[in-house]
Amino acid sequence: MFVVDEVPVGVFRVDGNFFALHNECPHAGASLAHGLIDGDVVSCRIHHWRFCVRDGTYLDQNQPEQNAKTIPVRVVGAEVQIDIAVD
Ligand code: FES
Repeated sequence: MFVVDEVPVGVFRVDGNFFALHNECPHAGASLAHGLIDGDVVSCRIHHWRFCVRDGTYLDQNQPEQNAKTIPVRVVGAEVQIDIAVD
């Protein structure tokens, strides 16, 4: 877990690709970076809600409003760069 411009970011590596989510679980704010990973699915350790790390989709029910917020990632050389939009 990283904090970038005061935004907590969970970074996940799946099959050599990097993905980032806002680190606070949409349910009650637990750290997704400290969740359990199974392929491209992260499960929150507290109440076990599951999210796709690729697109943030909440996988347990069809409730798009509960999707995790994705954060754009790119790899430049040896760096993993996170794009935190400033409003
Ligand atoms: S805080 Fe993540 S499922 Fe409840």
